[in-house]
Amino acid sequence: MQNKFDRLDSMISEAKLGGGEKRIKAQHDKGKLTARERIHFLLDEGSFEEIGQLVTHRSTNFGLDNQKFLGDGVVTGYGKIEGRLVYVFSQDFTVLGGSLAEAHAEKICKIMDLALKNGAPVIGLNDSGGARIQEGVVSLGGYADIFYRNTIASGVIPQLSAIMGPCAGGAVYSPALTDFIYMVDGTSYMFVTGPNVVKTVTHEEVTSEELGGAQTHASKSGVTHFACQNELDCIQRLRKTLSYIPQNCEEQPPALDYTPGNEMRPKLDEIIPESPNQPYDIRDVINQTIDDNSFFEVHEDFAANIVVGFGRLGGKSIGIVANQPAYLAGVLDINASNKAARFVRFCDSFNIPLLVFEDVPGFLPGTDQEWNAIITNGAKLLYAFCEATVPRITVITRKAYGGAYDVMNSKHIGADMNFAWPSAEIAVMGAKGAAEIIFKKEIKSADNPTEKWQEKEAEYAELFAHPYNAAARGYIDEVIKPHQTREKLIRAFDMLKNKVAELPKKKHGNIPL
Ligand code: HXC
Repeated sequence: MQNKFDRLDSMISEAKLGGGEKRIKAQHDKGKLTARERIHFLLDEGSFEEIGQLVTHRSTNFGLDNQKFLGDGVVTGYGKIEGRLVYVFSQDFTVLGGSLAEAHAEKICKIMDLALKNGAPVIGLNDSGGARIQEGVVSLGGYADIFYRNTIASGVIPQLSAIMGPCAGGAVYSPALTDFIYMVDGTSYMFVTGPNVVKTVTHEEVTSEELGGAQTHASKSGVTHFACQNELDCIQRLRKTLSYIPQNCEEQPPALDYTPGNEMRPKLDEIIPESPNQPYDIRDVINQTIDDNSFFEVHEDFAANIVVGFGRLGGKSIGIVANQPAYLAGVLDINASNKAARFVRFCDSFNIPLLVFEDVPGFLPGTDQEWNAIITNGAKLLYAFCEATVPRITVITRKAYGGAYDVMNSKHIGADMNFAWPSAEIAVMGAKGAAEIIFKKEIKSADNPTEKWQEKEAEYAELFAHPYNAAARGYIDEVIKPHQTREKLIRAFDMLKNKVAELPKKKHGNIPL
């Protein structure tokens, strides 16, 4: 028996070495952890159980028969994060550049199937040169098998993708089909075609970092939701994300213990500036309202005119969507609509109640927006709110103008409770623009047109720049003082906690993509 044990032990040791000491050193020299080290830091100590450690590829092409590595370049299995089950795959760049082919893909599919059957999140740690070139079409088939599972699992179990090295070609599409993407500054990149192909086809000279580094995708394309300082920061953010979300779409998100206390927040009374055109940071409103230090912002560097993220209110998870008056006056544009729509849909998929803070002057005008389909893209956010069945509450802090009033979780599209602060202005547009249009003739024919315009502006503001017309019709359930907001929200979300709302039977809707 001892001989047999020795054989097994030697195979396990071999598998743990991946591509060997030299390549592990090369990986470390690049400032990167190995596949196994990443799993070690990600999961609760001692909780990892590996699956498929002895799997090898079956190819004999291009000398691959002499390059068999136990595990075939990906470490897969399950473990715990804060005591909760997760499935994980971690690509091993030391083995054939972490490239993906038949056996490697089968291992990933196996844990995805288990995750779906058992209702737990999948975390992918990607570090790969893409499709293993020597294995040909089975590599492409392997990717497609994963894409299919990503799609089927979408909205059933959370899927998180960390990019911790190269991610090129079709390989980017599995992460793109998952819920959140995390990249690491300086060592990870994603692109469909790399700088060399770009140069050949378009004659553009661009570095990998510029083309698809973490900062590029965090701020320009919005492909990644998080640009992390280093791998450990990335792993911490993966763990933190899970702390706000349930294991699957049938469960409620985890809640922290909470002892009710004095919920008044007088500092909220001081945030709105005197002039309606002066900016303020909506994050101050968020942080003053929700549980201390509980705000976890998502997509922070993209479309800064809207802020989205997770938070806790009375210990319970909520998803927050807030216009940001400190950037472009909080206007809704294409990127902001896409960013918020995707977040709303994630929260709705996973039973996370939605809190909206609204201060929006409308949609951004201009040819750039119109030609790039602000109509279709703005409609995504409208659609996302309309179909969301989780508890939904809106607080209008200041402006709620035009179509944006409707879109930002208004009563009419299914919000459960709509609050407004006394500083709210709910109207078709701002007083200045409104006066210019409806009193055009009077202003033009006046002895002093500027004076007339100001007079009419004041008249319009008196009539509409407040929340009381909306409150009179019940579009606003209650006008509250800012310092009461936290208490009102805790009570309202508690009142809504057993909400049942179902959409009519359908195969699926047709969101304007
Ligand atoms: C096989 C690969 C590989 C691949 C890397 N390697 N990528 N082997 N298939 N796709 C191997 C290298 O030959 C090398 O082996 C080892 O991994 C490490 O690679 P290096 O090039 O030495 O590392 P580095 O300098 O860090 O460069 C990493 C890299 C580069 C940028 C990822 O390797 C690269 O450009 N690889 C090819 C990327 C690519 O074009 N992939 C196909 C994309 S198309 P040795 O033994 O020499 O050390 C695709 C289609 C999917 O993915 C479609 C799905 C729909």
